[in-house]
Amino acid sequence: MEYNEKITELKVLKGAGIDLNWKSMSDNPSELFYQWLENAIRHEVIEPQAMTLATSDSQGIISSRVLLVRHVDDNADFYFSTSSVNPTGKQLSENPYASLNFYWKELSQQIIISGKVKKCNQNDSMVDFKKRSDSSKAICLVQKQSEPLNGIETMHNAVEKMSRELESNPGLVNPNWTLFRVIPDKIEFFQGRKTRMHERLVFTRNQSNDWNKTFVWA
Ligand SMILES: Cc1cc2nc3c(=O)[nH]c(=O)nc-3n(C[C@H](O)[C@H](O)[C@H](O)COP(=O)(O)O)c2cc1C
Repeated sequence: MEYNEKITELKVLKGAGIDLNWKSMSDNPSELFYQWLENAIRHEVIEPQAMTLATSDSQGIISSRVLLVRHVDDNADFYFSTSSVNPTGKQLSENPYASLNFYWKELSQQIIISGKVKKCNQNDSMVDFKKRSDSSKAICLVQKQSEPLNGIETMHNAVEKMSRELESNPGLVNPNWTLFRVIPDKIEFFQGRKTRMHERLVFTRNQSNDWNKTFVWA
């Protein structure tokens, strides 16, 4: 096989120079997540709240897509919202486990989370829906996400029509909109290094629901 030099010669790990004091790092992954997030915001990481969500169906067929994290609570549960009837929602009802990955390339950092997923109640889901921008609400209200589309124009027309409906009835909600909670059993904080001796700290939940912390090899 001939490699594509354009790809293999691209630079990587540009942000790997960041100083970290692993010894004084928090034992609480939720606190550590917020410390890393604040640092990412300070360093102007683009869209640090965007993460890749991987799910699988009952056959073990895996899909992934980018979503926004909506909240991380004190137990280090991660919340995201999407439709419960799109492929993501369907996969989660077949197999309620997921993996999340934040990759902050400006810092060569990733945070990888995996665990069980639960639906939040309807009220919390609707609160989340109402927090969305008008354009986001309009496309969600069309309720066609991931369905085949015969042309981009059709989507524009449908969303325009929905935007007008939303203007005259701002309380409209999509009842399938769902806030999901990932209850992690594992959270990894990864700092990339140019030497490839990446520094990786893994939290795993023990039987008494506390977190154990260990480094793993790069
Ligand atoms: C930066 C970014 C943020 C996104 N945030 C969301 C989100 O919070 N919820 C959502 O349903 N889709 C979001 N999407 C769209 C998803 O990537 C995806 O297209 C959609 O959820 C349908 O995925 P599915 O067909 O695998 O179910 C986002 C896309 C990008 C690029």
